[in-house]
Amino acid sequence: MLSNAQRFSRRTAVKSGFMLAGCAGLPAWFAAETAALAAPEEPKSPNDMPGILLVGCGGQGTGDARQAAKFGKVVAVCDVDSQHAAKAAETLKAEAKFSDFRKALEHPGVDVIVNGTPDHWHTLVNIHAMRAGKDVYSEKPLTLTIAEGKKLVDVARQTQRILQTGSQQRSDARFRLACELVRNGRIGKLKHILTMLPSGPAEGPFKTQPVPAELDWDLWLGQAPAVDYVPERCHVKFRFWYDYSGGTVTDWGAHHNDIAQWANGTERSGPVRVEAKSLLDPVPGGYTAIGRYQIEFAYANGVTHTCKSVPRENFYGVPTGERGSADERNGVRFEGTDGWIFVTRGKIDASQPELLTQELPASAERLYASNNHMGNFFECVRTRKQPICEPEIGHRSVSVCHLGVIALRTGRKLQWDPEKEQFIDDAAANAYVSREMRKPWTLDV
Ligand SMILES: NC(=O)c1ccc[n+]([C@@H]2O[C@H](COP(=O)([O-])OP(=O)(O)OC[C@H]3O[C@@H](n4cnc5c(N)ncnc54)[C@H](O)[C@@H]3O)[C@@H](O)[C@H]2O)c1
Repeated sequence: MLSNAQRFSRRTAVKSGFMLAGCAGLPAWFAAETAALAAPEEPKSPNDMPGILLVGCGGQGTGDARQAAKFGKVVAVCDVDSQHAAKAAETLKAEAKFSDFRKALEHPGVDVIVNGTPDHWHTLVNIHAMRAGKDVYSEKPLTLTIAEGKKLVDVARQTQRILQTGSQQRSDARFRLACELVRNGRIGKLKHILTMLPSGPAEGPFKTQPVPAELDWDLWLGQAPAVDYVPERCHVKFRFWYDYSGGTVTDWGAHHNDIAQWANGTERSGPVRVEAKSLLDPVPGGYTAIGRYQIEFAYANGVTHTCKSVPRENFYGVPTGERGSADERNGVRFEGTDGWIFVTRGKIDASQPELLTQELPASAERLYASNNHMGNFFECVRTRKQPICEPEIGHRSVSVCHLGVIALRTGRKLQWDPEKEQFIDDAAANAYVSREMRKPWTLDV
C-alpha cells in the first residue's frame, strides 16, 4: 500500500484548489487529496484512441460507451435487439452494427469492449472477448454464478487482458474515504457492516407474447433455459429472474457488498457463514427473485454483516411510499467499538464529525485511488497495471451476493470455504455454485 506522502503532494493539492466535481461534502483534507490525484490522461491524437466495441446497447451500456468515447473511439455496436443497436450506432456514431457478438469481435479495429449485456451474458461475452485479445470494461454484477467467476479470473490471468468491473463506487471518493477510515481503525474495531439495498418487486403472473420482430429472443436467452417470450423477462426487468440474475441482492449488492469487502479487507476472500430469510415470497408465475430479504454473513475475522432490502425504496431508487425505519437508507453502514460511518452515493456521515474531519496520519494504510472508473480502465489499458476493480475483486464481491442468494434459495444456514470456494459438506448448496448452460454455450471458449 502507498503512504500518504507517496500518493499526494500536499502543496500540489492545496495549489490545485480542490473544487473537484464530486468532492462536495467531503472533509477538506480528503477533498484536497482527491483533487490532487492525477486526472486520467485523455488521448493526445486520434491514433492514441483504442477502438471500442459496445456489446449490449441498453441504457447502461450506451451510458458507459459515452464515457468510454472520451478515451477511445466507438467503432462498432452489437445488440440482439436491432432497434437498440440502431439507436446506439446513431448516438455513438459507430461505423458498424452487429447482432452476434462473436462476429462483432472480428470487426477490424476493435481493441476493447464495453459489456452492457444482462447479467447472464457477462461472463460468456467477457471470456470470448479476452480470448480474442480484447480488454474489457464489464458491467456488474460480474457473473451469474461463482463458477463463472473462477473461470473468468483464470482466463484474465492466462490471456493477460485488462478487465474492469463496473462497480463504480470504488472510484467515488466518499466510498474510498469510508473504507480507508474503517481500515485504519477510525471507528475502533470493526464489528458489524450493514448493506442496505433497494427492494425488488413481487409481481406477476405474466403472459407470453409474440417475439418482437426486432429481437433475436434465442440469442437474448443464450445460456438460460429456453422459454417463450415474456416482455417482463427481457429488457431491464431481467434482473428480477434467477434465470438471468440474482434480483437486487446481486444488482445493488454488486455495489454495496463490494464496498463492504473493501473496508473489511476481505476483497480477495469472503464470508465463512451465511443464512438468509425471505421477507416477501415471489408471486407464482411472476418474478422469481426474492425482492425482500435479510441476509446474515460472518467473516473469519469476527466481523458480521447484514445485507437487507430497504422497503422505502424500490430498485429504481424511487420511494415506494412505505414508511420503513428512518435508519434504513440505501447505503453502507460500518459499526465499530468507537462509532459508526454511513456512506451512500452523494453522502458520508459519522457518529461524531471528527471521525471524518481528522486527517489520517502519514503512516496510514491507503487504498487504490481512482476518481474516474472508466478513465482508470483506459489508463490500465495503456499501462497494463491492474484496474481498481480487477477480475478477482469483481468476482469475490459478487460471490458475496451469490452466497446470499443461495442461502435465500436453500433456506438454510450455510458454511462457506472462501479458499476452496465451496460449501462445506453441503451437496445441495454446492449445486448452486455453477449452472448448466443451455447448448451450445460453454465457458470453455
Ligand atoms: N454500474 C451501474 O451502476 C449499473 C446501472 C445499471 C445497469 N447496470 C448493469 O448493466 C447491465 C445492463 O443493464 P440495463 O439496465 O442497461 O439493461 P437493458 O436490458 O436495458 O440492456 C441490455 C441490452 O443488452 C442486449 N443484449 C442481450 N443479450 C445480448 C447479447 N447476447 N449480445 C448483445 N446484446 C445483448 C439487450 O437486447 C439490451 O439492449 C446489467 O448487467 C446491469 O446490472 C449497471
